[in-house]
Amino acid sequence: MRILYAASEVAPYIKTGGLADVAGSLPKAIAKEGHDVFVVLPLYSRISSTYRDRMKQEAFFFVDLDWRHQYAGIFSIEEDGIKTFFIDNEFYFHRDTIYGQGDDGERFLFFSRAIAQMIKALDLKVDIVHANDWHTGLLPLYIKDYSRGDEAYSRIKTVFTIHNLKYQGVFPPSILQLAGLSNEYFHEDGLKFYDAANFMKAGIVYCDSLTTVSESYAEEIRYEFYGENLQGVIRKNDWKLKGIVNGIDYDVYDPEKDPKLPYHYSKDDLRGKALNKEALQRLFDLPENKNVPVIGMVTRLVATKGLDLVRYILDELLQEEVQVVVLGTGEEEYEDMFRHFQWRYPDRLSAHIYFNEGESHLVYAGSDIFMMPSLAEPCGISQLIAMRYGTLPVVRETGGLKDTVKPYNRYTGEGTGFSFANYNAHELLYSLKEAIGVYDDEDTWKSLVVQAMTEKTDWAVSSEKYIKLYEELLLQR
Ligand code: GLC
Repeated sequence: MRILYAASEVAPYIKTGGLADVAGSLPKAIAKEGHDVFVVLPLYSRISSTYRDRMKQEAFFFVDLDWRHQYAGIFSIEEDGIKTFFIDNEFYFHRDTIYGQGDDGERFLFFSRAIAQMIKALDLKVDIVHANDWHTGLLPLYIKDYSRGDEAYSRIKTVFTIHNLKYQGVFPPSILQLAGLSNEYFHEDGLKFYDAANFMKAGIVYCDSLTTVSESYAEEIRYEFYGENLQGVIRKNDWKLKGIVNGIDYDVYDPEKDPKLPYHYSKDDLRGKALNKEALQRLFDLPENKNVPVIGMVTRLVATKGLDLVRYILDELLQEEVQVVVLGTGEEEYEDMFRHFQWRYPDRLSAHIYFNEGESHLVYAGSDIFMMPSLAEPCGISQLIAMRYGTLPVVRETGGLKDTVKPYNRYTGEGTGFSFANYNAHELLYSLKEAIGVYDDEDTWKSLVVQAMTEKTDWAVSSEKYIKLYEELLLQR
C-alpha cells in the first residue's frame, strides 16, 4: 500500500506534544512491514538547519485561497525507509510559535489544501491518506471534494485520527470561502458547529475511517464529559470509529542504549537505574539518597494533566519521606505552584520550569514513581516511557492510562503501576501512598519494575491494527 501520513508536528523535526511522537514513529513501523509511507508537515522556520541542509527540493506550485495566490514549495528528506515532505511557505510558517497565531485557521487550511494538491503534483498515487487532529481535519474533506471527477483522488481512502478532542479548530464560517469549499458543506452533518466552521468536525464527518488513540477514549468521547460538545457527532459516526492505542519508538526509548542517559541498564541488571537516580538528584539539587522514593513528572503544566489534584495533596505528600521532581512548562498558575512548593520544601521538591528532551529521559529513568493523574488522557505516552524505564506510573483510570497501566494487585503480585478511578485528590494521594508503601518492600517493588519493563508497548501490535484497517478500507474501493 502507499500511505500518506499528515500531521502538524513530527518528531524529531518539530515537537510540542505526543502527536509528534506518534507521527514520528507509527509511519516507521508501518514502513517496516513493507509499505510505502510518506509523511508530510509544514516547513516551520523553527525546524533546525541540520535538517534543512539535508532537504531536497521536489517541486513547487500555487494554492489559491480566495484572492490570495500562495506559493507552496515541497522539500523532502528520506530516512528510515520513509520520505518526509515539508511544505514551505514563509508567510504562513515563518513564525515564532507553531500554534496560537491569529490566522491559524488560514495557515492550516493552506497546509491541508497544499497536501491535497501535492498528491497530484507529485503523482504520489497514494491509496490511503491518514490525517490527524484539527490541523489536517480539512484534508479528508478536500480528498472527497476533489475526487468528484478527478481520478487522482477518487480511489483514495481517508483515515482521520483524533489525538485530543479538546482542540478543534473553530473559525468563522467565512473561512470556507478562503478554503474554496462551497456552502454545501456547511450544515449540521457537515462541518457546521453552532454558527462556526469546525475543522475537527470536518475530519470526523468526511473521513472513511475514524480512530482515536486508545479504546477507552473512543468510548469516553461518546459522552458529554469527554465529548467537548462533539459527543453527538461522535455517536452519529461511531459506525466507523475505532480505538487503537499508541506505542512508543523502542529505538528512541531504550534504557540499554539511550544516548541521553548517563548510565544504561536492563531489567536483568538494574544497577544503572540506581546510578541514574543519583544523577537525577544531583541535577535537581536534591539530597542524594538512594532509599527515598523519587516521584517524577514530565508534563505540560495544564489543567487536563490533573494538576489541581496535585496542588491539593502536595503539602500532605511532602510530609512523607519522598522527593518530587517536575519538568515542564505551561500555565502560570501551575508553574508558580511548583515554584512555591520548591521554596517551602527545598529538600523534597525540585521543579525545572522548562522543557529539555535530555533531562526528560533522566527523569523517566532516574525516578521510581511517575505521577500522571490526568483529568483526560486520550492515550498518554509518558506512562509508556516510564514503564519502559522501570518507573512505575501512578495514573488515573482514564483513556489510554486505563488501557496501558495494569494496577498492582497485591493478591496476585501482578502489576505495572498504580491507579485510581475518580478525579479526587485523596484517591491520588492514596495511590501514591500505596506506591510508597510497596516501594519499601524491595522484592515486590523489583518484581513490578521487571513486569513494567517487560510490557510490550512498542508499535508492533498497533501498527498491525492500522495496516489491517487500511486494507479493509481498500477492499471497499
Ligand atoms: C495528544 C493526547 C495524548 C496522546 C497524544 C498522541 O497529545 O493528549 O493523550 O498520547 O496526543 O496521540
